[in-house]
This record gives sequence, structure tokens and C-alpha cells, in this order.
Amino acid sequence: MNAPETLEIACSRAWPPVAEEFLGGWRLRWADGFTGRANSVLAVGDPDRPVPAALRAVCDFAHDRGIPPMAQVVRDSPNEHAIAAAGWVPATSHGAGHEVVVLTAPLEKRRFHVKATPPGGRFHVKVADEATAGWWELVLGSDAGTEAARAVLGGGKVGYGVATDGEVTTAAVRGALVDGWLHVGRLAVRPEHRRRGLASALMAALGSWGVEQGAGSAVLQVAEGNSGALALYAGLGYAPHHRYRYWVPAPGSCEDSTS
Ligand SMILES: CC(C)(COP(=O)(O)OP(=O)(O)OC[C@H]1O[C@@H](n2cnc3c(N)ncnc32)[C@H](O)[C@@H]1OP(=O)(O)O)[C@@H](O)C(=O)NCCC(=O)NCCS
Repeated sequence: MNAPETLEIACSRAWPPVAEEFLGGWRLRWADGFTGRANSVLAVGDPDRPVPAALRAVCDFAHDRGIPPMAQVVRDSPNEHAIAAAGWVPATSHGAGHEVVVLTAPLEKRRFHVKATPPGGRFHVKVADEATAGWWELVLGSDAGTEAARAVLGGGKVGYGVATDGEVTTAAVRGALVDGWLHVGRLAVRPEHRRRGLASALMAALGSWGVEQGAGSAVLQVAEGNSGALALYAGLGYAPHHRYRYWVPAPGSCEDSTS
């Protein structure tokens, strides 16, 4: 039994914000602007008040912390209908893509032993409990990100997958264990090393790590427009579970009621 809402809560816990408050079942999240997921309200379940009042509280929470108000909502859910009826609009300008597909796959031991070594022989792939400097640099860029970004990515039981070629980190991925799920995120391969099987090898290594840690299935969230990643994941046996979208207030409709 994995309703979209239940899985969204697991995914949110695998990507923990720095600050979190509850409006009934809704989760208000803040992480200094690092990712939409950690800086939006996860609108699942009942907010314990009429949706327009809940959305005003979302605006206040966001304004208080200096982030734009945004809601992450399971597509075609009652909450999505209510948020649309309250005058919010799809967040079409969200940089990472406002329409996201959530994919899942069973973690079977045999599947992940086959492709754990990338072709070419010179790459070394492993999953560690600590992130290397190269992992942070590849995942967050040369400034290695903010404290909040590091807190989000370091939160929980995390495995840091890396592929290295000598001293160079060529690919990276993050895995987090929540409720028997392996949550996969931040997969990145340096452009000059793509289409050599590195992502596949890293996903295989992370899958094995997940099985060792007791996970039965894997879940990941990918923007609808990321056709390359979607092709990769389909080839690895991932299938769509549900979709979510980001919503924002219509311009001028979310004044700061606390000022
Ligand atoms: C998506 C990404 C991780 C793929 O890494 P990769 O090491 O090139 O992937 P692999 O070599 O293991 O690809 C395995 C298969 O996946 C599919 N695939 C991978 N990238 C693809 C692309 N850009 N377009 C179409 N199919 C693709 C192909 O079937 C490929 O097999 P093939 O090369 O024999 O055709 C990489 O392009 C990347 O870092 N992109 C930017 C970050 C990103 O989008 N991350 C995912 C976030 S959810």
C-alpha cells in the first residue's frame, strides 16, 4: 500500500529541510532556498483548516523566511483541485521544472550485481557513509553549497555514491533510507564522461547498498522534461508511480499578512 501521499511523505523525510512546521498534515519546509522540495509546503493530507486559510499560512511562513511561497502537490489530488480553486497557479517558472514524475523500482539483489562495474576498467565505483570533497563539488558546484544545502543532503541515513577516475570524481549520487525505501537523488555525471555507463554502474552500486541496508524498493523524483534521465531510469526498471506539480500564488494574491 503506497498511496502517492504516503510515498511523498517518505520522500520528504529523505530530503529533510532545515526548518519544518506542520499545518495539520501539510508540511511547511525551509532550507535557505536549496531545492523546491525543501522550500515549499508539501500539501498532502488535511491541513486542518480551509485550504485558502492554509495557503495564507504558507505565504506567511515563506515571507518570514525570505523564500517565495510554493506548494508541492500530488497531481490530480483533492488538494491540487482545492489549491487551484483558491487561485494558485502552476509554477511554470520553477527552474528545475514544475512537473515531476516519481518513479519506483523493486530492489532485487540479482539485478544490481550484474552492472556494478562500468565498462573501460579505469573507473572506480563505491558507496560510502561519508561524502568526499569531490562528491560535494560535483553535486553542489565549486563553492560546495550553503550550510543548508549540506544539511539537506547530509540528513538521515545516507549513502554517497561516487565514480572516480584517479583523483577525479566523474559521477555522484545520493541515496537515503526511509521506511524501507531507498530514495535516490542528485545523480550527476560530468558531461565529458556521459554515455559510458557510469550512471548505470552507480545506480547498480547504490541499489546493492540499499539492499544491504534493508530497503525493498527505490524511489526517485525526476522532472518531466529530463528525457535523458527518464530514458536511463526506464532502462534500469523504474516505472512511474505518480506525479506532482509545484504551485505558486497568482501574482499579487499572497500579500504578507504579518507585516
Ligand atoms: C542523466 C545522466 C545521469 C546519465 O548519465 P550517463 O552516465 O550518461 O548514463 P549511462 O551512460 O549509464 O546511460 C545508460 C543508458 O541510459 C540512457 N540514456 C542516458 N543518458 C541519455 C540521454 N541524455 N538521452 C537518451 N538516453 C539516455 C541510454 O539508454 C543509455 O544507454 P546507451 O548510452 O547505450 O544508449 C547524465 O546525463 C547527467 O548527469 N545529466 C545531468 C544531471 C541529471 O539530469 N541527473 C538526473 C537527475 S534526476
